[in-house]
Amino acid sequence: MSDWPLLFDPHALDGPGETKQARLAAAIVQAVRAGRLRPGARLLGSRRLAEAMGVHRNTALAALRALEAEGWITTRPGAGTFVAADLPDVAAQPFAGPRAGTPAAPGFDFPAAPEAPPAEPPPGALVLAGGVPDLRSVPVVALTRAWRRALTVAGGTLLSYGPPHGHPALRAALAQMVTRLRGLTAGPDDVLVTRGSQQALDLLARVLVRPGDVVAVEALGYPPAWSAFERAGARLVPLPVDGEGADVDALEAALATGPVRAIYLTPHHQFPTMVPLSPARRLRLLALAARHRVAVIEDDYDHEFHHVGRPLHPLASADDAGVVVYVGTLSKVLAPGLRAGFVVAPRPLIDRLAAERRVVDRQGDRALEAALAELLEDGEVQRHARRMRRVYGARRAALVEALRAHAGDALGFDVPPGGLALWARFERDDFPGWVRRCRDRGVWFQTAPELCRPDATPPPCARLGFASLDEDALREAARRMGAALL
Ligand SMILES: Cc1ncc(COP(=O)(O)O)c(C=O)c1O
Repeated sequence: MSDWPLLFDPHALDGPGETKQARLAAAIVQAVRAGRLRPGARLLGSRRLAEAMGVHRNTALAALRALEAEGWITTRPGAGTFVAADLPDVAAQPFAGPRAGTPAAPGFDFPAAPEAPPAEPPPGALVLAGGVPDLRSVPVVALTRAWRRALTVAGGTLLSYGPPHGHPALRAALAQMVTRLRGLTAGPDDVLVTRGSQQALDLLARVLVRPGDVVAVEALGYPPAWSAFERAGARLVPLPVDGEGADVDALEAALATGPVRAIYLTPHHQFPTMVPLSPARRLRLLALAARHRVAVIEDDYDHEFHHVGRPLHPLASADDAGVVVYVGTLSKVLAPGLRAGFVVAPRPLIDRLAAERRVVDRQGDRALEAALAELLEDGEVQRHARRMRRVYGARRAALVEALRAHAGDALGFDVPPGGLALWARFERDDFPGWVRRCRDRGVWFQTAPELCRPDATPPPCARLGFASLDEDALREAARRMGAALL
């Protein structure tokens, strides 16, 4: 027994990824499969196993419990723990790769995904992520409490099937939020809860777009939305973006050449440039959409974060013609991993989207939705938003100051009136070289080429998110970005 660890690969418990408990269980299974531990052999108890393998006792206990549940080991009270006499599967089955002559994807033929997977920053990098809020500040205590309550109420009914529209309490809380704070007029029946705005956009594309339909989009713009529309067969028409947001003349020109099914816009803070759509363009755009009966899909992803003056009301709040479909998310105000978004639209469209949703993933996480409803009802989300507005305002100021100090006039930017990112233009030659050197120094951010269609010429611009790093980390990132200038 003293040579217990020798039964295993000495590195069996090293490395990232799986938990130690899973790796310990796998190592024991491996030893059984390889015949190093025979059926009926006695195993160390959890305390000695933990000592021998250098893990916490609870880890060893959990591994043994999992192996017992799977039938690999048996415990006889008072006698000890043994490798089961009747093993579930003793034959070692190393993966030998495909048999000679089989195609790489046996039996299937499918086109590659049109989008390249995003480059992943290495661990420890300073990531100026435009899309991620400060996850350390999420009110997890309140969320956990509410979630636990939701899981246990009424005998766990929220763990069952439910309506694809979302939990009624969350629909009501979101309707109240957009009515009270965003100038919309919505009741619970006008709200569909989705898994993030991405699912909302995908459902809208499935329901509204027929193959060949034209969808006008901002360009530069938000590629995940473009992908959803293109998957539904849309032909995208780009609307250029300037200091007042999307170019409405370009929209008018597109409308003059043929029908446009929908316009996808980020009017609050244009993605990725952060420019708000100007009041004059808002009015013209709404009038055009009403006259041509075009659906305006308004993606109001960062409504809570306007740092200068009052938040701008959504286009949907000024829509008298019933053409705007409003999409919101809790990804910025709380956390993207919660996958909580919503659509506000007239009830027939909401019901149609819900029917589609029933096919795609049936329903959302009802217990989580009930918990989020509680957090909205008791003002926790709104208090958190207020707190974080101050924090993000200070981070924005710190990044602006540090970039001015370290990058000088090599980076040109306007301080955005809101949102969680700066849009900066590289004013020197060789933007790709600078981005590479920043990455070599451990600083990562999105660049225009990643936010552009492959057929467009991207400007030498970077989107610098400031929400998820604290002020010191932002200063350090700016210092390294300055050092990368050469
Ligand atoms: C333009 C835009 N829309 C929506 C979202 C949020 O997406 P989701 O709600 O799917 O997390 C983001 C996040 O980065 C965004 O930039």
